[in-house]
Amino acid sequence: MPIISIPALGLRLQANADENLLKVLRRHRVPIGWSCKRGECGSCKCVLERGEVDLRGYQPGALPGAQREQGIILACSSRIVGDVQLALVDTDDYIEHPVRRLRCRVLWLRELAPEVFALRLGIVGTWAHAQGQGDEPGADGEVDAPFVFSAGQYAHLKARDADGAWIGRDFSMAGTPVEAEYDGELEFHIRRTTGGAFSGLLGGTIVAGTELLLEGPMGRAYFRPRHEGPLYAVAAGTGLGPMLSVVQTALDNGKTDPVVLYAGFRHVSEAYGVELMEQLAKRHANFRAHVVVEFDAPGGARGGRVGDALFADVADFRDAKVYLAGSPAMVEAVSAELLARGLAARDVHADAFYAPAPRAVAEQQPDEAQG
Ligand SMILES: Cc1cc2nc3c(=O)[nH]c(=O)nc-3n(C[C@H](O)[C@H](O)[C@H](O)COP(=O)(O)OP(=O)(O)OC[C@H]3O[C@@H](n4cnc5c(N)ncnc54)[C@H](O)[C@@H]3O)c2cc1C
Ligand code: FES
Repeated sequence: MPIISIPALGLRLQANADENLLKVLRRHRVPIGWSCKRGECGSCKCVLERGEVDLRGYQPGALPGAQREQGIILACSSRIVGDVQLALVDTDDYIEHPVRRLRCRVLWLRELAPEVFALRLGIVGTWAHAQGQGDEPGADGEVDAPFVFSAGQYAHLKARDADGAWIGRDFSMAGTPVEAEYDGELEFHIRRTTGGAFSGLLGGTIVAGTELLLEGPMGRAYFRPRHEGPLYAVAAGTGLGPMLSVVQTALDNGKTDPVVLYAGFRHVSEAYGVELMEQLAKRHANFRAHVVVEFDAPGGARGGRVGDALFADVADFRDAKVYLAGSPAMVEAVSAELLARGLAARDVHADAFYAPAPRAVAEQQPDEAQG
């Protein structure tokens, strides 16, 4: 049996030959990031110090040649072919909240902008994965602890479609973790896409009172409370939900360094959250928000792409951390530019809103949600 050793964590893990490396690391709860699980986002980078893996099927943007030459690999795109020794890229501020399975009820659904909804859920119980029962969740249980997550994380939500089949997608928590913990309520900002298997249910099958299943929290693009230095949060569309959660949490934590939010929208009609940004700016002298509208910015407002606005304003990212959420195109382009400008990968925390892979759309089983 191949052995995966991670000396920095004192770990020697047994794996099966031909197994996916990310799957093994996650099975043993190794603190590694992941998001797309198909070689697109670069979240699962680690350093191959010894041995070989079969690395294939990833996007060059997720692992540039120069990083590959330094021994960096993508765990999600690596198959185990023998013993390996690994080092993790980012273990600073590692936080792991247990993944919970919660039954939630829709409290309300509010339109924030055309086709953009705030979905507010109340936690009503727990569910278990039932072996051999297809998509059906297993036994109900009582909620024995608050739902704890870090600002910027996401959860997998499942709803029944019009035919009664379960359909699941990932969505980022929009409120702050403290509010969620005390209220037992969670908020998500969701764009309803035309023909969207999940988002298309909003307002139809998913209305006040509908039961949804939640599995989470997940993701490593969360707020690092120990960081000292400027914080930039860059959002495209509904990426504003988790980015507002990050900046609000940073400000609530008493961060005194500059906290700057760039909220990008394609059209002015899609802009939302402006009032909250203004309130935060009034309360915190170190907070600035820029609303950037790509195509039809009204007079006086900033036009163009949100990433261009960030790079027009900031020439020096020394000591900074940058958080990003929203469309893969924005997240990938801005992350690549930040790395090209010398910001270390450990200071870029990004969750792109990748659509699920075709197989996952058609065949996803509850336990495979992030497995
Ligand atoms: C980590 C993570 C966090 C996420 N957080 C959020 C969030 O907070 N809010 C949110 O709104 N979404 C979020 N997403 C995206 C979300 O999971 C779904 O992919 C999205 O809602 C579309 O799902 P659907 O079932 O409605 O559409 P699908 O049935 O999967 O797709 C229907 C059609 O729409 C296209 N499509 C899918 N997504 C988009 C898009 N964004 N823009 C244009 N066309 C699209 C597809 O290619 C397809 O043609 C997140 C994704 C990830 C991976
Ligand atoms: S590249 Fe591996 S999880 Fe996205």
